[in-house]
Formats: sequence, C-alpha cells, structure tokens
Amino acid sequence: MRSLDEFATAKLAELERANLRRRLVDTTRLDGIWAQRDGRRLLSFSCNDYLNLSQHPAIKAAAIEALQRYGIGSGASRLVTGNHPLFAELEARLARLKQTEAACVFGSGYLANMGIIPALIGAGDLVLMDELAHACLWAGARLSRATVMPFRHCELAHVQALLDQHRSSHGHALIATDGVFSMDGDLAPISGLAALAERFDAWLMTDDAHGIGVVGDGRGSAFIGGARADVPLQMGTLSKAIGAYGGYLCASASVIALIHNRARSFVYSTGLPPAIVAAAIAALDLIAADPAYAALPLAKARSFTRLTGLPEAESPIVPLIIGDAEAALQASHLLEAEGFLVIAIRPPTVPAGTARLRFAFTAQHPDDEIERLAAIVRDRVLTIRPQAQSEGQSEARAAPARGRRG
Ligand SMILES: Cc1ncc(COP(=O)(O)O)c(C=O)c1O
Repeated sequence: MRSLDEFATAKLAELERANLRRRLVDTTRLDGIWAQRDGRRLLSFSCNDYLNLSQHPAIKAAAIEALQRYGIGSGASRLVTGNHPLFAELEARLARLKQTEAACVFGSGYLANMGIIPALIGAGDLVLMDELAHACLWAGARLSRATVMPFRHCELAHVQALLDQHRSSHGHALIATDGVFSMDGDLAPISGLAALAERFDAWLMTDDAHGIGVVGDGRGSAFIGGARADVPLQMGTLSKAIGAYGGYLCASASVIALIHNRARSFVYSTGLPPAIVAAAIAALDLIAADPAYAALPLAKARSFTRLTGLPEAESPIVPLIIGDAEAALQASHLLEAEGFLVIAIRPPTVPAGTARLRFAFTAQHPDDEIERLAAIVRDRVLTIRPQAQSEGQSEARAAPARGRRG
C-alpha cells in the first residue's frame, strides 16, 4: 500500500475506535421537513432550513426565472466578469435588513469568514474569540496571522481581562463571536461585547449564520430586544433560514469597498450563480413581509423545551448534551427508529465529552409531532443519563480553549 493510503487508513481506524468516524448517508429531502433515508420517511430536526424557504414556491419560481434568463454559473469573479445587477439588489436588501450602509455577498459563509478577517486584521493585531465560535471564524482568524486568543464562552469579564492585559501591546483588535451559537443555541452577550469594543477601541464582528431570519424580528442577533446593538461587522450566511446559499458581510461603505479589494475569498472566487442570488432576494422579501412567520421556529423550540423540561430555548437550536459519543449515537438511532432524524453531533464539532443531540426546529414542524418527540426524549433519552444535560453543559462551558472546532 502506498504511504498515503496507509496514512488515511490508520487515521480512519483511529476515528472508528473513538466512535468519531463520520459517513455520508444517502438522504433525500422531500420537502421542508421530511427526509427519505434507507427507504423510510423521517421527520428531520437536523436541517437549518428554519423557515422551510428552500422549498417555498415563490422562491423556487424566482430561481427558475433567473436560471432561464441568465444560465447556471456566473462564469468568474465578480471583479473580472462584471457585477451582475442581481448582486446589487441582494446586497441592498441585506444592508437594509441589518441597518448598515452596505453589504457584500460571498460564495459561502465559510468563504466569507476566511476572507473578512485577514482583510481587516494582520500580524501585530489581536483577535479575541469566543471559545465556542464556529470553525470558520477560527480558520479566518488563524489565516490573518494576528495573535488569536479564546475567551471563555459568553464571559464578558474574561474579555475585559484579556483586553486589559493585551490590548495596548497590539495594533488593531477584533472581538469575534457567533451571534447564535450553532451547536448550543444560546446567544452571545452582544450589547456587553459592543460596550467593551467601544471602550478598548476594538472592532466587534458577529457571525449570525443562525440568527438572520429567526431572531430579532428576522433581523438577527444584533436586534434582539428591539434596538440595534453597535456591531460594525455583521456576517452571516444565506444557506440556513434564507434557504439558499452564500455568505455576506453587512458593514459601512468604506469597509465593504475594502473587502472588495482585499478579501481573497471574494476577489479570487467565482460569484454565486444568478438563480441562487434571485432566490435569496425573494426569501428576504418574504421575511420582511411576515415577521410573525419568522418567530415560529423559536416558538416551536420553546414548546419542545417546555415539554421536556430542558432549559428554555433561546433560538431554534436545542442541544441535549449526552457526553459520550457512542451514547449520543445510540440516542440518535433510538429516535430514528421512531421516525425522527436527529443527528448526533460529536467532537471535534463540539468539545470532547459533550457529544449531543442537536434539534433544529423549523416553522413547519407539526405541533403533534413535536409533542411525540418530546415524550420520547423525556421518557427514553433523558432517563438514560439523568444528569447528562447539566454535566455536559458545565463541561462545555469549561472546555479548554479551542477544544472545539478549531
Ligand atoms: C455559525 C456558522 N458560521 C458559518 C457557517 C458556514 O456557512 P456556510 O454553510 O454558508 O458556509 C456555519 C454553518 O455552516 C455556521 O454554523
């Protein structure tokens, strides 16, 4: 065997032994909530299509029309082939929604974070990052060559201590966090972070991949509680509640102009297909027209946490921390046997010892199915390890720096 294959085989065996090997499983999404797997129809709680917009007839029609008029691919970077007018339309809507001067759309949320942070921050600068921030924020920060320091999950006092100690010895400083945490469903203390950013002349960046469309009247995590928190860099993705694909940054006009010049994942990557851009425009119009619909996923998540006795949901994402990876897989199989698709999330996506079930609630999940799911979770999953939730959460909070996803 060639050494390359030997290397891959040995690594896979290691993952298998730790119950951490992942496999692609053929699954067809039938509509916004149902999926077909191994010949069975399952109700999926493992999809971030929170508003089920990926299947909305008006959005599909917008995409089909754009595809027929403009074709499939966009051909080159927007700076090279020319900027399709649909991009300006989408960016104007995003900026309006987020109340910023301008916006820039990227090929994906991951690409956005890989481009934004190194465009703004470099060697000699400081990045403070919530320890549970998403992998692509970590990836962008590392690429920047700045000094990157994790702060304890949502702990303002730790952010302040790090700024007290390190701010003056660095050039620029960036504070970066998920707005809604992707695997925990909790919210960043955004107004507290904004106050610290102001005091220490740091720039606050939120990754609101799981906030847009579902919290803050659909505007995202900077808008919870009514007023807009001072977040000069609001990043997010069009691939979850918006139901389409692509990433974005909403910021001032000067920052966006700099991003057009300096963000390598923007400059050197092909623009999104026009049909996807048209779909995202249609989705944002629907969200703006119906804020009550945007409130449904959180309401459904809260009904589930009430029925199971889990801590009240803060977003459509509800974690049930099991701890051990194998036990989390077993819990997932138990729910699958009952007709529910709830994938076990294991390290390195979450810190070691905090494998979990992650439930993602969407606007169209039927209430009676949520009740049935809650009864099974209460009677047959929570009873396996009655202390698991509180143990797991404290482990997650105490997870060593970059124990997660980095
Ligand atoms: C918090 C967060 N940021 C960024 C991303 C990446 O976005 P995309 O899927 O558009 O690349 C994701 C998920 O995929 C996410 O959960």
